[in-house]
Formats: sequence, C-alpha cells, structure tokens
Amino acid sequence: MAATLVNVGLDERSYPIHIQSGLLTEICPDLQARKIATRYGVISDDHVAGLYGEKLMRSLASAGIEAELITFPQGEANKNLQTMAVLASELAGRGFDRADGLIALGGGVTGDITGFLASIYMRGIPFVQIPTSLLAQVDSSVGGKTGVDIPEGKNLVGTFYQPGAVYIDIDVLQTLPAEELRGGLAEVIKYGIIYDADFFDFLNINHAAVLALDNDIITRLISRCCEIKARVVEEDEREGGLRRILNFGHTIGHAVEAASDFQIIHGLAVGIGMCAAAELAVKTGCLSQEKALEIRRLIKKYGLPVSIPPELDRTAIKKFLLSDKKTIGGRVFYVLPETIGKVMITDQVREEDVDAVLMNV
Ligand code: GLY
Repeated sequence: MAATLVNVGLDERSYPIHIQSGLLTEICPDLQARKIATRYGVISDDHVAGLYGEKLMRSLASAGIEAELITFPQGEANKNLQTMAVLASELAGRGFDRADGLIALGGGVTGDITGFLASIYMRGIPFVQIPTSLLAQVDSSVGGKTGVDIPEGKNLVGTFYQPGAVYIDIDVLQTLPAEELRGGLAEVIKYGIIYDADFFDFLNINHAAVLALDNDIITRLISRCCEIKARVVEEDEREGGLRRILNFGHTIGHAVEAASDFQIIHGLAVGIGMCAAAELAVKTGCLSQEKALEIRRLIKKYGLPVSIPPELDRTAIKKFLLSDKKTIGGRVFYVLPETIGKVMITDQVREEDVDAVLMNV
C-alpha cells in the first residue's frame, strides 16, 4: 500500500489527510496545488526541528515555497500562553501577514499550539499539520481542536479551527520513543472499541506487525483511525454529542494522569482509563465480563498498563474526576462500551461502582 487519502468533509472547510511513507519530502506538489498561503512559518519544537526541520525546509525551498522555521522548547510544560506570545511576536517581527500560513511540524503539543496560533494570529491565518507522533497522527492533528494549558488545567484555552491539510509520513515513527509509540497505540485501540469491532480484530491479529512498524500494516492502521475520526468530526465538529465518544478512557484516564502529577504519560493513562471504563460498564450492567476481558487483553498485549498503580492516591483521582473539564453541571459523564465497537455516554453511574473500580482496577 503506497499511499492513502482520507477526506474530512466539512463543506468549505473540508480537507485531505495524506498518509504515505516518505511523505515529508513529497508534500510540495499538493501544498502548491492547494494555494493555502504565499509563505509559511514552520512551527516545531527544538527536538523535532533537529530531526526533521532541515529535511522539510530543504524540500520546501527546492519547490520554491517560501518558508521560515520557528522553534520553541520541547515539552508539554511549554504548551502555554507565554509560548503563544513569543511565537506571535516572532511572526509579527518577521512580517507575517494574512496571506501567510503556518505548518505544524511535530507531535500533539506542536499541533495544538500551531493551530491555536493560526486561529488567532491576525484573526486567523491558514495552517497545515505534519504530525510526527503516532498520537498526533491518529488523533490530535485531525478534527481541529487547538489550545494551550493554563495552571488551572490542560487545554482550558483554545479554539476549534480546522487545518487546510494533514500530511502523515509514517517513516517518522521510526524515531519515536517506545513509550510514546505505546501511548499512541492506546488511542488506536480506542477506535476499535468505540466504533469498529473489525479494526479491534485487526489489531489483535496484526499485533507483531504493528509493533515492528510494518509499512503496509501501519499505513492501514493510521488510515482507519483517520477515517473513523473524520466520520465522527463530520457529524459533530464541536463536540455537542457524538464526538464525545472519542473521550472513551479519558475521564478516568485524565484523572489518573493528573493524580500521578503527569508522571504517567497521557496514552498510558488512557490505557488504564479504558480498562477502568470497561469494568465500570460491567458493574453498570451494559457490558459482559467476557468483552471487558477481551478489551483488557488487547490493551495488555500492546504493553500498556491495565491497572491503576497501587501507590496512587484514590482520593486524588476522585478529586480530579470531579474537576474534569468534560464534567457538565457538576455531573461526570462516562463513555462506556456496550460491546466491542459500540459505546454509550451516561452520567447514570453509581458512586460506589466508581469507587470499587478505582480500588480494584
Ligand atoms: N481527541 C479527541 C477529539 O479530538 O475530540
């Protein structure tokens, strides 16, 4: 499988997601054909810029596309308003105007910052995504969520702002740290549980090829995740309803992540959160124990944690659960599987069942 194309259909804001091995140096014809901007600010963190910045800049230059690389320090701690201010000043200082655009080259942090900056710089300029982590490729680069963290919480300031195109080069996964790859795989497994039982089976059957980053299997895997995300976002762009299914595993997962003081990375916390949500679904009577075990087995097979570490304070997890930004009117909503491939959203969950799950998962 050489290349695949997924379309996100949002009327005049529709855009393509190109998925291909070696795409990083081959985006120029498509970028030029789209006439997105006359000049680009390539935003990247200092780590990813060191790995891929020069390669991309050379490719843009040889196609005659004007672009400037602008970097910020790596890490979630820099996904804040201060970094936004520094980058906005950089753009203004270099004379970027409304005819110009941005390219996000990096993982989720870079994509979220760049999308947010594009949405507010000069009241909005276009941008494209070149995601370099698995998590960004299958989730955060698609669907237009942008934003930064503030001391009161993650992603509390942001916008919905769709990119003009997403370019996914699967080769960049070769340099991704193993833990981050596993974290991204949690989001991949999520799609099977919430939407597509056949894809869940595909992940079971092709486990070894996925972990070996087999070209064909990874292309199919990323394409299917992007297709599912595109279908969900097309139906509910601003998370009024269906899009909330993408938060499966994230309610308890975020609370575990926060209670660990972010020592447990997002994807691994989502793995734990999905196991906890499956257990909660069993207790609530909407999922069979057998299906919950199947879910747990696949998550474990991919080397993800399936239990909340015993030393993690359950009271702290409860506190974070109640302060989650997805809480509505003080009620915590859970995305619970009814079977593999189908979930429901409910706030009808007994507190004693949540407590039991937090103690026993
Ligand atoms: N990452 C969840 C969403 O984009 O809605």
